[in-house]
Amino acid sequence: MIHRAVLFLALALGLGTQLTSATEVLVNNTEGKLCLYANLKVNFSVAYEAVGDKNATAVFSLPDAVLTNGSSCANSSSTLRLSFGQGHSWTMTFSKGVQNYQADSVSVDLNLADAAVFPNATSNETMSVTVNVNATNLSKADLGTCYSCNSQDVIREGGVSQTLWSVLIQAFVANGSKSQEITSCAADVPITPSPAPTNASTAAPTTAVAPTTPIPTPTLPTPTTGKYHVTTGVNSTACLMADFGLSIGFKIQGQLQKMNLEPNGTNASGTCGVNSSQLVLSNPTATLVFTFVNETAKFRLHAVTVNITTGSGQQFYSENTNLSLWVASVGSSYMCNKEQSYNISESLALHTFDLHVQPFAVASGKFSTAHECSMDDTTALIPIIVGCALTGLILIVVVAYIIGRRKTYVGYQTL
Ligand SMILES: *[C@@H]1O[C@H](CO)[C@@H](O)[C@H](O)[C@H]1NC(C)=O
Ligand SMILES: *[C@@H]1O[C@H](CO)[C@@H](O)[C@H](O)[C@H]1NC(C)=O
Ligand SMILES: *[C@@H]1O[C@H](CO)[C@@H](O)[C@H](O)[C@H]1NC(C)=O
Ligand SMILES: *[C@@H]1O[C@H](CO)[C@@H](O)[C@H](O)[C@H]1NC(C)=O
Ligand SMILES: *[C@@H]1O[C@H](CO)[C@@H](O)[C@H](O)[C@H]1NC(C)=O
Ligand SMILES: *[C@@H]1O[C@H](CO)[C@@H](O)[C@H](O)[C@H]1NC(C)=O
Ligand SMILES: *[C@@H]1O[C@H](CO)[C@@H](O)[C@H](O)[C@H]1NC(C)=O
Ligand SMILES: *[C@@H]1O[C@H](CO)[C@@H](O)[C@H](O)[C@H]1NC(C)=O
Ligand SMILES: *[C@@H]1O[C@H](CO)[C@@H](O)[C@H](O)[C@H]1NC(C)=O
Ligand SMILES: *[C@@H]1O[C@H](CO)[C@@H](O)[C@H](O)[C@H]1NC(C)=O
Ligand SMILES: *[C@@H]1O[C@H](CO)[C@@H](O)[C@H](O)[C@H]1NC(C)=O
Ligand SMILES: *[C@@H]1O[C@H](CO)[C@@H](O)[C@H](O)[C@H]1NC(C)=O
Repeated sequence: MIHRAVLFLALALGLGTQLTSATEVLVNNTEGKLCLYANLKVNFSVAYEAVGDKNATAVFSLPDAVLTNGSSCANSSSTLRLSFGQGHSWTMTFSKGVQNYQADSVSVDLNLADAAVFPNATSNETMSVTVNVNATNLSKADLGTCYSCNSQDVIREGGVSQTLWSVLIQAFVANGSKSQEITSCAADVPITPSPAPTNASTAAPTTAVAPTTPIPTPTLPTPTTGKYHVTTGVNSTACLMADFGLSIGFKIQGQLQKMNLEPNGTNASGTCGVNSSQLVLSNPTATLVFTFVNETAKFRLHAVTVNITTGSGQQFYSENTNLSLWVASVGSSYMCNKEQSYNISESLALHTFDLHVQPFAVASGKFSTAHECSMDDTTALIPIIVGCALTGLILIVVVAYIIGRRKTYVGYQTL
């Protein structure tokens, strides 16, 4: 019974949601370097003829474990062939343009002799279906980026229905490593922009976070937290410290891309002043400038400037010099552990993780007392946890009571 109650509690706390696994494959080129990456989920529903003149339907998923033999990468075209089960395979072909690449076709070869998947099939042959991809969601992706599509894409052809979702693919991988940038498919539902967190108690001048058209968020792993410090000449002690993981969402020619700022390889520099301090983060792909001001004993993030050169050589630039974010008293630090999304401009959104920043008055290289953002306030969670625990407790008591009653009842009968 206690087990049940624990399970119930786990469910009530949302721990019961299971993760469906995906099929992840890496294809190497002839030099042994990664040239094609895919992580996706595919469900199949296949109509076939069964003995006794019956129509049957086989429903199955692309397994996690597949073979990639038969996949290949060439300069301007590549093939992803995933073999699974008893002689089945799923194939996608790609071609490369000047600035982007695209999927051209999806084919499925199914061995009807596999009785485990196609019981009682009349045929023992291979059923093959090829679909031209412009009938689907699969659109072009910029070279040097991953194609991401969380939305479901149903491809129906010749009795075979394929549902693709949670797709992350990069064809024509350069230099053997998967890109951190993403091109999202049009079908991915935009998220509503989350308003910049307000600190009612520390109301500051006009918050000019642009009212943006929602920018959809593609899937990327959570960025690594970087520790970015600006030091002064005196003993090289830190005068500005900013620890955070950062993802950057930006739009080029209407197309959304997203990248994580990789701390390894990112250089932090800047200046520390009395009324203004600057943090400059730069790597070969991106340069970000964060300007903080000190006004009336409070500091805030006042301006953000971002320059990015994409994998395909396009330039992105955006700035907002009228922000009022990360507000706290000078002499303290600002902290926000939960993911925060800030729409900096129409074409730029920043997502921070494990943020801890102090732009002024850093003493002996350590953060001062933190002003925590409202999002980290856990007080709202406590009633929920208490409620769930109480519900579980009541359940245990009720069950115990019922068992107790039954036992007593049985006891009387035997007398
Ligand atoms: C691809 O290359 C990487 C190292 O470059 C290696 O670890 C991996 O096993 C290779 N994969 C295949 C399927 O050959
Ligand atoms: C895919 O198939 C699995 C098992 O057959 C099912 O649980 C899941 O809901 C399906 N997902 C979609 C998106 O069709
Ligand atoms: C099986 O499907 C085919 C094509 O959809 C149809 O012509 C045929 O009548 C179906 N047979 C049965 C027994 O339902
Ligand atoms: C891949 O290897 C498996 C088993 O070794 C084989 O059955 C299958 O036909 C191969 N696929 C291709 C496309 O060569
Ligand atoms: C592929 O590209 C490499 C380097 O760019 C080049 O040396 C090679 O000749 C190309 N191969 C083909 C078949 O075009
Ligand atoms: C296969 O056919 C036999 C009779 O022909 C039937 O008893 C059995 O249920 C069928 N199996 C499936 C999975 O349809
Ligand atoms: C496939 O079916 C045909 C006719 O039903 C039969 O002659 C042949 O031997 C079968 N092949 C296999 C590999 O089972
Ligand atoms: C798909 O694209 C090919 C060439 O890219 C074109 O010839 C064909 O008409 C397109 N089909 C559809 C349905 O748009
Ligand atoms: C710099 O280091 C020297 C010797 O370690 C120390 O005397 C001095 O106070 C330090 N200055 C600052 C600003 O920390
Ligand atoms: C940083 O990158 C270099 C070269 O890319 C690598 O050798 C090193 O292990 C990386 N360090 C960490 C902490 O990831
Ligand atoms: C912040 O500005 C005030 C004046 O508004 C100044 O007195 C104070 O020293 C500044 N704080 C720092 C850390 O520079
Ligand atoms: C960023 O781009 C703008 C506009 O293209 C340019 O003026 C500026 O110098 C660039 N800054 C950096 C750091 O590359």
